[in-house]
Amino acid sequence: MKRIGILTGGGDAPGLNAVIRAAVKTAINDYGCEVFGIRNGYDGFLEDDGIIPLGLNEVRGILPRGGTVLGAANRGNPYARKVIRDGKEVTIDVSDEIVKGIKKLKMDALLVVGGDGTLHIAHQLAQKGVPVIGLPKTIDNDIGGTEVTFGFDTALNIATDALDRLHTTAESHHRAMVLELMGRDAGFIALQAGVSGGADVILIPEIPFKFESVMNKIRARAEKGSKFSLLAVSEGAKPLGGVQVFSRKGDEVYVPRLGGIGHIVAEYIEGEGFESRVTVLGHLQRGGTPTAFDRMLATRYGAAAVRLAARGGFDRMVALRCGEIVDLPLEEATAVPKRVRPESDAVITARNIGISFGD
Ligand code: F6P
Repeated sequence: MKRIGILTGGGDAPGLNAVIRAAVKTAINDYGCEVFGIRNGYDGFLEDDGIIPLGLNEVRGILPRGGTVLGAANRGNPYARKVIRDGKEVTIDVSDEIVKGIKKLKMDALLVVGGDGTLHIAHQLAQKGVPVIGLPKTIDNDIGGTEVTFGFDTALNIATDALDRLHTTAESHHRAMVLELMGRDAGFIALQAGVSGGADVILIPEIPFKFESVMNKIRARAEKGSKFSLLAVSEGAKPLGGVQVFSRKGDEVYVPRLGGIGHIVAEYIEGEGFESRVTVLGHLQRGGTPTAFDRMLATRYGAAAVRLAARGGFDRMVALRCGEIVDLPLEEATAVPKRVRPESDAVITARNIGISFGD
């Protein structure tokens, strides 16, 4: 193994710089490899200055930094790229150009750090002979093949801190404070932050809710003298028999953008005579310095991916299982996305301590 490339695709997540640093250090120190960084996800293969050498100097000091020094692109799907042809916007497949780019650079391995979309593309590229290895990242923690993705723990801590802060102002003003959290179709952030931050109501995509059940909880608290409530609401939560709320439609390039359910819940609560306010935590959950847990996990993934490349374990993903780093086929890792199981102990525990899921 002489040359490896690394790219970070999809939305950013805290820990990306830690994973890049670990991969570069392991590749150079232990395998004497040359490392190249591909900028802006797969797009870097199509850009003039899209490939940059990554040496030890380039990764010095980046461990605690949020974001990614390589840039990311969450609409960088080479199988559906929007370009202007004859003055019209068309969607084309440029995956063969990427394959050519990788071959031209004589890369022995391409480390792809991404969420489900980016990893799925990596598997497709592997079918065209690209020696890819996947590394799972996302704040949503929704990748089936691994117990944890890096980025999740940082987002969870930020969300919990937000609930702690909302708690004091909710109590002062006797209000129902709604916190809308990210996570797409997985409710892990809202569930775990909700439990850790003392929410009274948690609404997640996996458990459709009824507005009246949410109100029952708020009323019951008020009757017992607690005239304020805290609600942790996943952006993907939906009422029973209803649909998710989007702020932007999707197409073949853009995934649909979730957002707005927090406001709908708060308006309902106000309509029932309880003052309510909404906070949409948004991209604060993805920004800033990673927690120690995420730095450690990202570092383990980065080093393990290089070791896997050296063994020729392509079209596979590194993962965390029972506390150990393992690897499994990318296809298997991305086949079924991970979701909160309504019968899991975390949900049961939340119910045990009196949290309502609005069901
Ligand atoms: O997948 C990570 C995530 O932050 C989701 O939780 C959220 O729905 C989405 O990305 C937001 O994407 P964007 O950065 O394009 O707004």
